[in-house]
Amino acid sequence: MISIRKEQIGDEEQIRIVNTRAFGQPAEANVVDTLRKNCLAGESLVALDGDKIVGHILFTPAVIEAERKEIVGMGLAPMAVLPEFQRQGIGSKLIRTGLDEMRKTEQPFVIVLGHPEYYPRFGFVRASRYGIVSQYPNVPDDAFMILVYDQAALAGVSGIGKYRAEFDAAM
Ligand SMILES: CC(C)(COP(=O)(O)OP(=O)(O)OC[C@H]1O[C@@H](n2cnc3c(N)ncnc32)[C@H](O)[C@@H]1OP(=O)(O)O)[C@@H](O)C(=O)NCCC(=O)NCCS
Repeated sequence: MISIRKEQIGDEEQIRIVNTRAFGQPAEANVVDTLRKNCLAGESLVALDGDKIVGHILFTPAVIEAERKEIVGMGLAPMAVLPEFQRQGIGSKLIRTGLDEMRKTEQPFVIVLGHPEYYPRFGFVRASRYGIVSQYPNVPDDAFMILVYDQAALAGVSGIGKYRAEFDAAM
C-alpha cells in the first residue's frame, strides 16, 4: 500500500537515491539538495511503500515574466519514481496530491517541462496556448506545459515561464 506524505527531516538520503536512480544520473538529485538549502517555499512530497521512499515530487516557485509584470506560481520538477516501482500509478498519486495542495494554497498556475503524453491527463496544456514559452532554448513546444488555476490572473499575460535558477544546473 503506497502512501504519500510531506518530506520530513531524515528523508534527504532516500530522496537522493530515488532521483538518482530514476534519472540515471545525479544532476536532478543535486538540484533537489540545493533547493532544500536555498528555497523554503514550495512543496516536497514523498511516496512510501512501508517506510521505504519509492517516489518524490517537488514544487518550487516559478514565474511568468511578462512585459510589464511578473506573476508567481509554481513549477513542478523534478518528479521521480524508483524504476522497479514505475507504471503502478505512484507518479500519478504524487502529482494529484501535489496539485490538490497547489489548488488549496491558491497558486495561479503550475508549469512543467516533461513528457507531453503524461501531464495532459492531469489538466496541463501546452504553455504556448497562453503565449508562454520556456526560458530554455530548444525545448519542444509540446513539452512545456501549464495548468492554470486562476484564469483571471493569466488573462492577457504572455512571456517567459521560468523555473528557479537552481534548475539551470540540470539543463
Ligand atoms: C515519469 C515518472 C515519474 C512516472 O512515474 P510512474 O509511477 O511510473 O507513473 P504512473 O504509473 O502514474 O504513470 C505511468 C505513465 O507514465 C508515463 N511515462 C512514464 N515514463 C515515461 C516516459 N519515459 N516517457 C513517456 N511517458 C512516460 C506513461 O504514459 C505511463 O502511462 P501508461 O502506464 O498508461 O503507459 C517515472 O517514470 C520516472 O521516474 N521516470 C524517470 C524520471 C523522469 O523522467 N521524471 C519526469 C520528468 S518530466
